[in-house]
Amino acid sequence: MPRPELRLVLAVSLDGRLAPPAGGAAQIGGRGDRAVLEEALAWADACLIGGRTLRLHGCTCLIHSPPLLEQRRQQRRSEQPAAVVVSRDGCFDPQLRFFAQPLERWLLTPASMAAPAGFHAAVQLSSWPEALAALADQGLERLVLLGGADLAGTLLQEQLVDELQLTLCPLLLGGPHSWLPAGVSLAPERWQLQEQRLLEGEELLLRYRRLRD
Ligand SMILES: NC(=O)c1ccc[n+]([C@@H]2O[C@H](COP(=O)([O-])OP(=O)(O)OC[C@H]3O[C@@H](n4cnc5c(N)ncnc54)[C@H](OP(=O)(O)O)[C@@H]3O)[C@@H](O)[C@H]2O)c1
Repeated sequence: MPRPELRLVLAVSLDGRLAPPAGGAAQIGGRGDRAVLEEALAWADACLIGGRTLRLHGCTCLIHSPPLLEQRRQQRRSEQPAAVVVSRDGCFDPQLRFFAQPLERWLLTPASMAAPAGFHAAVQLSSWPEALAALADQGLERLVLLGGADLAGTLLQEQLVDELQLTLCPLLLGGPHSWLPAGVSLAPERWQLQEQRLLEGEELLLRYRRLRD
């Protein structure tokens, strides 16, 4: 079954947290992380976003860098990757800033429903391999997974993540919000380092690719 290339992109603290102990809308990364996040967005046809992350932040990440926007125009691609929101019920406040952002919005949901107002399309999530194949069929072949931890854990457990792009941020946060949730059970897998880059603000980009048998 054809499926998209899937890259998980997260900013994490030195102790592996993606949000402070109190939770909420986390902003872990600084300017260095923002730059590599936009590079990943410029590579992608679409982003996958967990429903909780969208509700907490109210919007998704956009490319602002003029060179990256120009690069996408020259490639005859939309300026922004599409946003694919993953949700069991698809209920979102229509006042969220997300619904005014200049991008195509898709909903991925186990519920059988037509696209709710504000969404361009709804794709049924019966199994993850089938859902990702359906997105690839629609031309969404390069996906960035923007989290959160719940969604990242599910896709890692399903062995569907091809690359991990982590920005290590010079913070210790403590608390319960590890980027891989407790309880996720993973088959032992090896990952090969593809890139390491020191970023502004002493942040460190690490990009690993999953070694397939
Ligand atoms: N540091 C970073 O780079 C970064 C990035 C992203 C997020 N975050 C932080 O992560 C936290 C949120 O993460 P989270 O783990 O709590 O939530 P999350 O992964 O963003 O979202 C979980 C939600 O996704 C939907 N979902 C997940 N798996 C699904 C499935 N198999 N089928 C259908 N729907 C599914 C459900 O949405 P419904 O509830 O709509 O059904 C579920 O409640 C926030 O603190 C956010 O700021 C940090």
